[in-house]
Parts: sequence; C-alpha cells; structure tokens
Amino acid sequence: MNEDIENLKLRMQVLRTAIELHNYRYYVLDNPTLPDAEYDRMFRELQQLEHDHPRLITNTSPTQRIGAAPVAAFSQITHRLPMLSLNNAFDAAEVEAFDRRVREGLVVDSVDYAVEPKFDGLAVSLCYEYGVFKTGATRGDGYTGEDITLNLKTIKSIPLSLPVIHPPAFLEVRGEVLMLKADFLKLNQRQLARGEKEFANPRNAAAGSLRQLDPGITASRQLTFFAYGVGLYEDEHLPHDTHSTHSQVLNYLTGLHFPVARECRVVSGLPALLNYFDAIAAQRERLPYAIDGVVYKVNVLSQQEKLGFVSRAPRFAIAHKFPAEEAVTELLGIDVQVGRTGALTPVARLKPVFVGGVTVTNATLHNADEIERKDVRIGDIVIVRRAGDVIPEIVSVIVEKRPVNAGSFTMPIVCPVCGAKAVRLPGEAVSRCTGGLFCPAQRKQAILHFASRRAMDIEGLGDKLVDQIVDQAIVRTPADLYRLGLTALANLERMAEKSASNMVQAIERSKRTTLARFIYALGIRNVGEATAKDLAAHLGSLDRLMQASSEQLQQIPDIGPIVAQSIVDFFAEAHNREVIEQLRACGVHWEEHAGISASVGAMAPLNGKTFVLTGTLPTMSREAAKEKIEALGGKVSGSVSKKTDYVVVGIDPGSKYDKAVHLDVAILDEAGLASLLGSSISLKE
Ligand code: IVH
Repeated sequence: MNEDIENLKLRMQVLRTAIELHNYRYYVLDNPTLPDAEYDRMFRELQQLEHDHPRLITNTSPTQRIGAAPVAAFSQITHRLPMLSLNNAFDAAEVEAFDRRVREGLVVDSVDYAVEPKFDGLAVSLCYEYGVFKTGATRGDGYTGEDITLNLKTIKSIPLSLPVIHPPAFLEVRGEVLMLKADFLKLNQRQLARGEKEFANPRNAAAGSLRQLDPGITASRQLTFFAYGVGLYEDEHLPHDTHSTHSQVLNYLTGLHFPVARECRVVSGLPALLNYFDAIAAQRERLPYAIDGVVYKVNVLSQQEKLGFVSRAPRFAIAHKFPAEEAVTELLGIDVQVGRTGALTPVARLKPVFVGGVTVTNATLHNADEIERKDVRIGDIVIVRRAGDVIPEIVSVIVEKRPVNAGSFTMPIVCPVCGAKAVRLPGEAVSRCTGGLFCPAQRKQAILHFASRRAMDIEGLGDKLVDQIVDQAIVRTPADLYRLGLTALANLERMAEKSASNMVQAIERSKRTTLARFIYALGIRNVGEATAKDLAAHLGSLDRLMQASSEQLQQIPDIGPIVAQSIVDFFAEAHNREVIEQLRACGVHWEEHAGISASVGAMAPLNGKTFVLTGTLPTMSREAAKEKIEALGGKVSGSVSKKTDYVVVGIDPGSKYDKAVHLDVAILDEAGLASLLGSSISLKE
C-alpha cells in the first residue's frame, strides 16, 4: 500500500515536471518539443490522479495555475524593498549627460552598461521562498502594491517552482507582465466577435487582464512575463555577491527558467549606448512585444551601489524613451472642461486619428494662452502628439491648410457647467470657476478623486454613476456616499440589485483606510499622493494636520510655502471641517501614531541629539541624511566634540572618524543610521 502511494507520488511528480518543462519550452523558449496532444494527455492524467487523491495536490502543481475562485478585492502587499522608477532621457544630449554623471561619480573613463528593451507593460514583483512561488504583487505606488498572486500563477512563463536543488531562501524577481502583440490582436478579434469593448493597446489589455478579481478571466487571456532584475535576495548557500554584474543576474534568472529579453546586451561607452538605441528602434515594429524605449544600467553591481539613488530613482540607470508619436487630423471643436479645482481646460475635439497605439478623439489645449500662442482655430488641420500614458496634446497648426471659415475661440467668462463667474488670477495661466463645490462639475470631480484607487479606493464608483448621484442631488459631499442606501442605488440607471449591493459593500470596505490615503482623498490643492504620505508620516494624526500652522508645516521636508498655505486654507474652510467630521461620524477610520516631526507638537525622537557626518554614504546623499535627521529633531554639526552623540561614517571618512574614536563617540554606518531613523519612524502613540 505504502509502495503504491510512493509510486503514485512519483508518477505525479514526473507528470508535473514534464508539463512544466513543456510550458517552459513553449512559452519561454518558444521551441516546443512535445506534441500538444501528448501535453493534453499528461495534463488530464495528472488532473485525474489529483482528483482521486486530493491530499497529494501540491501548490506548485501545474493544475493549480487555473481554477482558483474569484476574490472580493485584492489585498495590499508592502514591498520589502521599494519598487522605484527610472529617470527618462528623451535625446542623445540627455543620455550623454547621464553617462557623464556616471563616469564622474565613479571616477572612471568608460563604463560598461547592461542595455535592455524598456517593456511597455506592468511592473510586478514575484516572491519565491525556498524556490516556491509564494506571492506576486503589482508595483502600486512603489511602496505597496496589490496581491495578484492567483492571477500571476495563470501565466505559464512564470515558474511555479524554481528548477534547482538549492534554491535561495528568498528571491524576489522583478519584471514586467505584457501581452504579446499577436495575442493582443487575437484578443481584440474575440472581443469584437462577442460585441465587447476592444482594448486600445497591448498595455491596456495586459492591465485589464491582470487586475481581474476572477483569475479565470486572467487565465483566458494570454499574458507573458519578462524578468529584468532581482529585488530582495537571501540565501545561505549562495551569497548575492557571487553575482558581480547585472548581466550575471540576468543569466542567473535565465538559468531559473525566467524569460529574459533576447535583446539584452552589455556595451561600453556612450556611442555604444546610442547605437543600441538606434538598433532597437529599427527593430521595434518587428519585436513581438510593445516597448517604449530602452534602459541603460551600469553593469557592475558594486558601481551601482556606489552611485546609489537620488530621491526615487537610481543614479545608475536611465530609460531612453522613443520620441512621442505624432499624427495629423482635423480640429472639430473646442469644449471647456471643469476640473476638480475649478480649472477651465479647453479640450480639442478631433476627428478620430490613430496615434501611438490608440485612437485619439480628444487632446488638451491647456489654457487660453496656449491656444493663442499656437494660434489654434476651429476647423484647423493640426498635429497631435501622444507619448506613453500622457494625455494627447496639439503640437501645432498647419496654417497653410487653414479653411477660410476657421473660427477663433475665446475662453468663457462664466463656468460652462454652473454659470458662476470664471476668474483668472494675476500670474496664473488658467481661468477658474468660482462656484466651488456648488459647481456640479467640481463636485463630481472631487467625489471621483475621493473614491479613486489611490485614495479611498471605492471600487466601481465611476463617472457614469457619479454623474447620476450628483445630478440627482443624492450625493453632495463625500460624506453622503456613506449614507447611500441599497434602495437609492438600485433606483439608478444601469444599476441592478446585485451591482447596487456590490457598491454598498465597496463603500463599506473603504471606511477602513490609512491616514495618508484619507489626506490624499480630501483633494487639498497641491497635495498629491507623495505629499499626503509625508504629512501622514510626519504628523501621525489628522488633528495635528488640521491644527498645524504654515510655518510648522514647512518644517516637514519637501513642504514649501505654497503647499503649506494650501493646507492651511483648506482647513480654514468651515465646510471642509464639517465634511471631515461627518466622514468620521459615518465610521471612516484609520490608525494614527505619534508622528515624527520635531516641529509639530509631538515629541521628536532624536530631539537634542547631535550628529556629525563624514565620508560618502553608500546610498543616501549627505543632504538626504541631514534632512532626515533634522526631521526627527536631531542636529547635524560640522565638527566632532564631546557633545557629539553620533558620528555617521561613510566610505573614505576623514579625520572626524579618528576624532570620534578618540573621544569615544558612538559610530554608525549608513545601515546603523537607517535603522535609527527607521525605528523612530515606527514609534506608535
Ligand atoms: S529596471 C529602479 N528594466 O520601467 C527601477 N525597468 O520607470 C528599476 N521597465 O515600472 C527598473 N522595462 O516596470 C527596468 N528593462 C527594464 C524595464 C523596466 C520596463 C519599467 C519598470 C518600471 C519602469 C521604471
């Protein structure tokens, strides 16, 4: 009997390995060696055995790629190592400047670069524990993403387990999920045949397929993956420094059966970078996947470390983007849209034109000055440009083709939506509606922003619904959303009982949020997501934010006088305070903490501590280290004395280091400083 079980396990193992090997040959190498019929037979045999012996099913069995049940919502995953972004270069001069900065930073004449296509897909992080695929997440805001493990498992070019005897204890593979151009065309044909909406481009199709709550839908779409790097790595057998270059890391990933772009190379010096760019640009149309440029990365990892990061991007890498695409079309008319802050934006209505992978029907004209400067008139033949995800814009007019009856445009002096006066303040380029939240357009935008994914994340609350609830005066403020009943929702157009109940649930779920999201959701002028995060981290509570003066706010790094004033003005408005009270009363809540700002109320954790910095810190710039220490209430001084509490020592420290040793002052390296800063940040009230 025991022997039978052992034989059975062995048989299942053989089938699993053969199936996954086939997946690898088919989806990664593009070189299948097994007939489809044989593959299907093995798959069915494995399914049957697992059906008969459910206890022998393993997580990494290829059968587990499909059939997972839909989830109600994605949960959040905090990246253990943030997923940063790349700076862009748009021409040779910017690449040259990048290469110069790198050479100067490393004090060398020529640098080896790993060069790669820049995939136009979605960044994901895949975490393997002891060789088993455990979790996968979207990039999100770089710090937290969504747990899309079940969806990623359906992608057959992603290994479920690593084909090595001693896998690392932890391996985070970073890369991009894409839809191949051929699969995109097939998907759109299918959508068309079923009377469903076509996707604008492969990137949107990949995004739409990956962010499905039902992994069954993701599985029905052909997605693929390309690895471009390793995030976190922990291994007792093979220390990370056995890889001394990025190209070795890519080879290592290839060895683990991850797809890596065939076009990756290592080249030296600026001319070779530009040659690579030209070569890839020439191949672009023929490549099986969409790209929007190439990426240059310093190849030697120790050199990467030496260069470090500046704000949220590495100094050792850059994306060289292809120029934006342009097309010629006719300007049919100019509409005026009212934004969340009342800004009136003239929007060009265009004869539909295909540019940069999508059909464009609207383009921004920014403001009245821009229209005048470009001398745009209704009926003109115009050049439209679209780059990446950026809103298309009108570049210029082909004046020679102007029809005799082309009409000129004047900015309205009243809001086209609510009729309130529109004013243009001195020094500002835009006119604004003065109707505030009485203007339905502003109210709609404010509510859409409040509910948006990065804010309160009320899933399904889109513009069609917001149009109705605002127009019917069911919702006037964000707080009204939390008072919406099932009946009110079910009575709306295009709302079946099921979708109404989903909506109620989504609204209910959003009540539990974070302080940073809540601050962002309020839609305070000049307070974007990053600022909202800074405010939440430094102040720790909404009341402290509401009470802070402009001076106090300016003590927080990255907060200048304009942002500070917008915040003060926002909370000075009685209406805004009232809505916040109502939101709290409706049960919107988040966790608060003591905050880390020296300036505002709370006890600063590094209060009274004096630091001296010496030598180059490996990743943090001296300025950044100083800012962080000061934000926590510490002081940074230029010389070491008995009163110095800590000396932070980098590479090539000066005499300050000797003095610190002499005076027996505590010495920290960058990691020590980071943990001191980090542990202060997590102080709870
Ligand atoms: S390396 C520190 N390599 O571009 C960031 N990124 O702006 C390291 N991307 O969201 C990223 N192709 O998903 C890298 N060959 C490539 C890439 C690539 C596309 C995306 C990436 C990220 C964005 C960076």
